[in-house]
Amino acid sequence: KTMPKKFLNPVEEGKLSGDMRELYDRILPTKDSDERRARFVQKLERILNQQWPGNDIKVHVFGSSGNMLCTNDSDVDICITTPLKILERVCLLANALADHGMERVVCVQHAKVPIVKFWDPELQLACDMNVNNTLALENTRMIKTYVEIDERVRPLAMIVKQWTKRRILNDAALGGTLSSYTWICLILNFLQTRNPPVLPSLHKKPHELRAGSDGRRAGFNDDLERFRGFGKPNTETLGELLFNFFRRYAYDLDYEKWVISVRDGRLISKEGKKWHLMQNNRLCVEEPFNTNRNLGNTADDTSFRGIHLEIRRAFDLVKEAKLANCLEQYEFPA
Ligand code: CTP
Ligand code: MG
Repeated sequence: KTMPKKFLNPVEEGKLSGDMRELYDRILPTKDSDERRARFVQKLERILNQQWPGNDIKVHVFGSSGNMLCTNDSDVDICITTPLKILERVCLLANALADHGMERVVCVQHAKVPIVKFWDPELQLACDMNVNNTLALENTRMIKTYVEIDERVRPLAMIVKQWTKRRILNDAALGGTLSSYTWICLILNFLQTRNPPVLPSLHKKPHELRAGSDGRRAGFNDDLERFRGFGKPNTETLGELLFNFFRRYAYDLDYEKWVISVRDGRLISKEGKKWHLMQNNRLCVEEPFNTNRNLGNTADDTSFRGIHLEIRRAFDLVKEAKLANCLEQYEFPA
């Protein structure tokens, strides 16, 4: 067996980095999209507090609209916080939203995190809404902090996300693949483990004395100013990072042995964590705030094999600087 290519030559590197810049500029959300998302939050806050006055209902954005990794067509992930417990029965929310002109309203009551899905015809936005699931707010803030530490993170992550969408690799619920959130953890851990690293581990940096914005203690060090520029000693270009991202997950990582841990900023032993005994444990990705959760368990053996082959395909194209081919839409076999 031949060793996978280790380096891009300068011509390939220049082409790949240039094509990545161009693609990034094309998929960055427009000002109009950002403004509609901001107006949407205000509109929901008005609707809900009008419907249930005096209950201090707050509307928070999380997911890609809150972590700087959305495109124009991303859904808005919304978390309502309120002491009013009956709202956790999301079908009540669903009715109120329908009464206020929202369309295609569906309530998914019996999920791990119950949600309401709907479409706002005025602002042309799709939304997934939950109540009081604040873990998602924290991990969104963590991603945003990582994105802001080094300017290569945003283009790299947005391009990898774009690839997962084109190749149908990001539907954890239906397709048995991985959520965007899981893919983002793979990218962050890759950047934490470069030599020298592009990103630190924010959970490992001292943070006990820092309180979160809402007065609670933060689970990670969110002192962005302290870490901005952390990755400077690493001089890899975007092209080199994309090449090495795919190389790591195509050939270098021993999936049998390791758990990907953003919390620790390194790989940790599957056996040490006793995860070698779990179901659907081919790909192990620790949720940074809840380390008992394996984000990779949405993929079973068959699905993992498919994902791994797709990563190898991506590496084989990126190593020839063929970004457009790498991002070609997957066509289901007839
Ligand atoms: N989330 C989570 N645990 C998961 C999946 C998601 O806590 N297993 C939370 C995270 O806060 C994540 C958010 O839900 O940021 C949205 O997840 P997802 O839709 O996968 O990621 P996005 O960044 O919103 O990507 P996309 O643009 O594809 O919607
Ligand atoms: Mg989302």
